[in-house]
Amino acid sequence: MRKLLPGPAAEVDLLDVYPAAARTPPAGRPWVMVNMIASADGAVAVGGASRGLGSPADQAVFQAVRACADWILVGAGTVRAERYRLPRPSAAALEARRQAGRSDRPGLAVVSAGLDFDPGLPMLADQRPGEARPLILTGPDAPRDRAEHLAGTAEVVRLEPPAIPLAEAARIGSPAATLGELGRMEPPAAPPAETARIGSPAAALGELGRRGAKVVLSEGGPTLNAWLADAGMIDELCLSIAPLLAGGPSPRLIHGAALAGPLTLELAHLLEEDGMLFARYLALR
Ligand SMILES: NC(=O)c1ccc[n+]([C@@H]2O[C@H](COP(=O)([O-])OP(=O)(O)OC[C@H]3O[C@@H](n4cnc5c(N)ncnc54)[C@H](OP(=O)(O)O)[C@@H]3O)[C@@H](O)[C@H]2O)c1
Repeated sequence: MRKLLPGPAAEVDLLDVYPAAARTPPAGRPWVMVNMIASADGAVAVGGASRGLGSPADQAVFQAVRACADWILVGAGTVRAERYRLPRPSAAALEARRQAGRSDRPGLAVVSAGLDFDPGLPMLADQRPGEARPLILTGPDAPRDRAEHLAGTAEVVRLEPPAIPLAEAARIGSPAATLGELGRMEPPAAPPAETARIGSPAAALGELGRRGAKVVLSEGGPTLNAWLADAGMIDELCLSIAPLLAGGPSPRLIHGAALAGPLTLELAHLLEEDGMLFARYLALR
């Protein structure tokens, strides 16, 4: 792997580059990384999954990014499309985790409103002794029968919905300012159905924070990323750009309503291997 920026160009070891970066959690919540791969024309899936975009170099970056995280957060759509497994770090990643004082494996947290999971999904069906079950974060109205079916293979936690619509909550400073501002505003548009049925990203990150997370890694998909971005809760974006054009109906990295304002990013590094680019961005506040 070649580091292009910051210069001078040099060969690098990914497990030195990613886990060594400083990530100071903002007050009251863990640091949030997002890791995604996209084609040069912005597609995040080919034929409904991301594997058509990947490469061995991307897999190596994927593992190095996971080595930075205490918890992985992923949307149920991605779990179903990519047939998610419990995270099992390679020997080298395990060593990097231990050197950084992290647990041997990141936890896996899945966001789902409907709890519609095939029991044959690897994360549910392939669990080894000593491995923590996946944590499923859902809303107060999630179907009780589905939660009961998951009980043996997953831990289901119901998040409280935000007291005010999420899109408004994302723009808000103090509660006093909020109430004053809401009094002056037109009634907000109804939030998207799925965000209405589940708690806020703050509630999800709070739950993971209580379980020891200092760094949470979102592995998408675009709906989950939109939820985080809308609340201003993305601190770092690791973006792999595959040297191909995919066309088709794929969403972009973030798929949902327009953000209240653009989230400005600063390029922290740019790596390259076999024509694939690996950018690491930090959110500017
Ligand atoms: N290129 C990449 O790096 C990459 C990474 C990840 C995914 N993908 C691709 O992205 C596609 C999936 O996209 P997607 O947007 O459907 O994925 P997603 O965000 O993983 O999943 C959406 C689903 O997750 C749950 N969810 C997410 N945010 C929620 C919220 N705020 N409130 C309630 N539920 C929420 C809901 O689950 P329920 O339906 O269970 O209620 C929702 O239907 C797949 O083709 C996948 O291959 C690509």
